Amino acid sequence: MCGIIGYSGPLEAETILLDGLSQLEYRGYDSAGIAFFDTASNIRLIKRTGKVAALREACDLEKAGSHCGIGHTRWATHGGVTDANAHPHRAGRVTLIHNGIIENYHDLTEKFGLEGRLASQTDSEVAAHVLDSFYNGDPKAAIKSLTQCVEGSYGFCIMFDDRPGEIYGVRRVSPLVAAYTRSGALIASDLTALIPYTRKYFVVPEDHIVKLTGYKIALYDINGNPVSPQIMEVNWNMDSAMKNGFPHFMLKEIHEQPEALKNTILPRISKGLPDFSDDGIDDSLFAECDRIHMVACGTAMYAGMVARALMEPVLRIPVTVTIASEFRYADPLIDQRTLVIIISQSGETIDTLAALRLAKSYGSKTLAIVNVKGSTIARESDFVLYTHAGPEIAVASTKAYSVQLAALYMIGCRMALVRGKFTDKEASSFLLGLLDAVPAMEAMIARKEEEKNLVTHLINQPDAFFMGRGLDYAFSLEGALKLKEISYIHAEACAAGELKHGTIALIASNVPVIAIATQEHVFAKMISNVREVKARGAFVILLTKENAVVDGGLADIHIRIPDIDDRFTVFPIAVILQLIAYYASLGKNLDVDQPRNLAKSVTVE
Ligand code: AGP
Repeated sequence: MCGIIGYSGPLEAETILLDGLSQLEYRGYDSAGIAFFDTASNIRLIKRTGKVAALREACDLEKAGSHCGIGHTRWATHGGVTDANAHPHRAGRVTLIHNGIIENYHDLTEKFGLEGRLASQTDSEVAAHVLDSFYNGDPKAAIKSLTQCVEGSYGFCIMFDDRPGEIYGVRRVSPLVAAYTRSGALIASDLTALIPYTRKYFVVPEDHIVKLTGYKIALYDINGNPVSPQIMEVNWNMDSAMKNGFPHFMLKEIHEQPEALKNTILPRISKGLPDFSDDGIDDSLFAECDRIHMVACGTAMYAGMVARALMEPVLRIPVTVTIASEFRYADPLIDQRTLVIIISQSGETIDTLAALRLAKSYGSKTLAIVNVKGSTIARESDFVLYTHAGPEIAVASTKAYSVQLAALYMIGCRMALVRGKFTDKEASSFLLGLLDAVPAMEAMIARKEEEKNLVTHLINQPDAFFMGRGLDYAFSLEGALKLKEISYIHAEACAAGELKHGTIALIASNVPVIAIATQEHVFAKMISNVREVKARGAFVILLTKENAVVDGGLADIHIRIPDIDDRFTVFPIAVILQLIAYYASLGKNLDVDQPRNLAKSVTVE
């Protein structure tokens, strides 16, 4: 989604803005622009389609020695990818950048007589004109009027022609964080752009106005009354957010998984049992619910699918996983006795946030599993379990998936203990099995050449199929998403037992099939399914545990993972699936970290 940066202070604004936009590139975008006050206190604007590097070149030609400005990377929602549709947008005395979607921009266009007056096709420019129509010299009053007539989601950063050195910010749903630092005042759509300057920041509360000047930051409620910001401390550092010598963030983050798993699990083990007391999560949350409903998007949702397959047979209560964009428009079967688990790496995914708000309106208790501290979903949930993966920059989620699973597994274990489904001994044994996942992942990472070599059989194929049974089927869903989102190979997952109900019609000579067979109770059935696709000419990549007995020649490529408990094979299998996707993307010379059309956090519907 769109990236936002604003700066006011003693340093050169253009450089800070461009560096900030570079930090935000990972969010995915198609155009970029900056606006700033020049030395004559006039607002100058440079924007264009393409990468931040191109914008930087254009700016180098116009060194204006500015100390105040705003910058934006645009992920197109309304209007095509054109220079005119890039942000910032100017309207009268207003210059504005926006992250979000104005849902009533057609009504506003009509109401404010903007037909024929717009230079772009964007909802954001409409907002700029509406704000300008309210502006009579009092920025906060005009902004309040804007928020009262705009519907939808927004994070706005605004400059007014007659207020040199000042930047105003206001948000609803879309994120904004701000900080006053030794370098000056900064505001951004996420922490990654602030980390180089500060570790202390605050989240701009919804429907509050923040004002940045070169010497301070002030926060007001929507009526203009001063409010003290809630200062938070970021637990990341620049190194964590940079590549540390890896060619891509994705490969770095694949390597970080064992450490991320340990950081998420170990602090929550006490006397060999799962312990969430430091997270402020009481056992009553687990004891009193009569069903669990997990809600998320993409990879986070697939983590939920794995957890469901593990939890429901043990807990013997309904465990449901629903896509957030479906959940939020349905009338879900949840109530006060439902535990709704919200899973989100960024904590800003708009559909997942809307699902959280819906769940709360039904009276359900909500527990969020989130990686970004202080994110909107974390702040609005009744309870939050932070994963400690550190910043995940690559659009393709890897370590966040693993730590989400670790968190969900620990929740399942605690629930089983609290509800008498696990004895202490069984719970301890489960956690030891979970910790076995760490060396198992390390082993697969060390063997990454296996995946590097096998992708030659994938990258020239238009399609690829993943299949498994039980937990392995849940793993295969994530494997298909990983491959398709960064290699652009059409990939789909199939419950192996479903093959003969349709999918096998697509299996022909050399069609790659990644078969996951780590679940011993259905291993024989899986091998039968492998024979079926092999008989139709498929190129079979078989993933099994070390000790699996497989006829020679059945698989074209056979990768064996360490021989760990079936319940935890997802962790080494995840490394294989991630590396297959990574090397396939690399083999096709694609942008591994910033795949086309995708963003790291989907903060607009
Ligand atoms: C996964 O690789 C994708 N980046 C995407 O599916 C992602 O998992 C999804 O958008 C959810 O994001 P969240 O965890 O930040 O809510």
